[in-house]
Amino acid sequence: MHFEYTEEHLAVRDAARDFAQTELLPGVIDRDTEAKFPFDQIKKMGELGFMGMMVDPKYNGGGMDTISYVLAMEEISKIDASASVSMSVNNSLVCWGLEKYGTDLQKEKYLKRLATGEIIGAFCLSEPEAGSDATSQQTTAENKGDYYLLNGTKNWITNGSTASIYLVIAQTDASKGHKGISAFIVEKGWEGFIVGKKEDKLGIRGSDTHSLMFSDVKVPSENRIGDEGFGFTFAMETLNGGRIGIAAQALGIASGAYELALAYSKERKAFGKAISQHQAIQFKLADMATQIEAARLLVLKSAWLKDMGKDYAFASAMAKLYASEVAMNVSIEAVQVHGGYGYVKEYHVERLMRDAKITQIYEGTSEIQKIVISRSILR
Ligand code: CAA
Repeated sequence: MHFEYTEEHLAVRDAARDFAQTELLPGVIDRDTEAKFPFDQIKKMGELGFMGMMVDPKYNGGGMDTISYVLAMEEISKIDASASVSMSVNNSLVCWGLEKYGTDLQKEKYLKRLATGEIIGAFCLSEPEAGSDATSQQTTAENKGDYYLLNGTKNWITNGSTASIYLVIAQTDASKGHKGISAFIVEKGWEGFIVGKKEDKLGIRGSDTHSLMFSDVKVPSENRIGDEGFGFTFAMETLNGGRIGIAAQALGIASGAYELALAYSKERKAFGKAISQHQAIQFKLADMATQIEAARLLVLKSAWLKDMGKDYAFASAMAKLYASEVAMNVSIEAVQVHGGYGYVKEYHVERLMRDAKITQIYEGTSEIQKIVISRSILR
């Protein structure tokens, strides 16, 4: 068993760290306050290869492994989880889903541009009445021969207004339950496709989360992904990998908060010495470091399983469940170490604490991860 990164892994991690420090850190507080999408930064992330990291180079991707991807996700998430959720959705949900199950035409037409970050994508599963209960899709796609007529509403869509390409899950035959669900590629600008209201969120405020409305949108049959009825499996399989990305995001939020708390504890003096010299703070730092290391091992294990072509659904659910709990715990403790300074924006940890919460909710709540894990144990 090897616990070492390769030279390539370290180079990717360092490049992501440099980018986060030089391009994301300046302005991150303002983008959070103003709920402003990091347009310029995402564009540069595309130019640096962070938007299609695992895609085969023949489709303009980076051809990297999942370990490289989670290392980059961690570094970017330490500084700006709003930028990293865009990166995660584009890499793990949209590019992965298209590369794995798209037709040659779909890959040529869409994947090549998504992998470079020239355009970004969104993944549309959640609905007003179908969040955790993803089989209860109300959005319908009626087969009209050479096209489908798409009707319905999607909620909580990351990259909702900034995406150009949307992978939309819809019911094609309600009588067949989850086997009557299909997946489609929908382009922004098609008649009847409306980007709805932007959500005013607690955290990841720089990320644009929208509802979407489809009213008699004509989707060419060639834009269906896989066979009719394959959409639910497509969504579940895609989310298995997506959860590795969000687990890495949670790990990044935790390690970002920890690094800030550690540095602050060495500078801040109280009762005649640095607070890091007080056991109350030392024990917090020890707990934070231990939890982060355990989360990192789960994240890397799930990435490694995926790279090895082994089953990773169970491992990615565990990684996401645990890393998101760690993100929450560690960011709360990081605020506590900072005392009053932790409660103001300038010190960054309050933002990380707000951002941490979403990692326990999206791409399956913690309770959903426990369903996936327990079913796997009991199977
Ligand atoms: N991987 C592969 N297949 C899976 C799967 C998984 N993790 N989970 C379920 N399936 C398959 C099952 O094997 C079954 O297939 P068969 O009928 O062929 O055997 C089928 O899917 C139905 O499964 P269940 O009977 O278990 O379905 P269920 O309704 O009881 O529960 C669930 C399924 C696990 C709860 C599922 O609905 C789920 O994961 N819900 C959460 C959805 C989610 O994560 N939403 C996030 C939105 S996307 C997002 O947040 C992106 C973003 O913008 C950041």
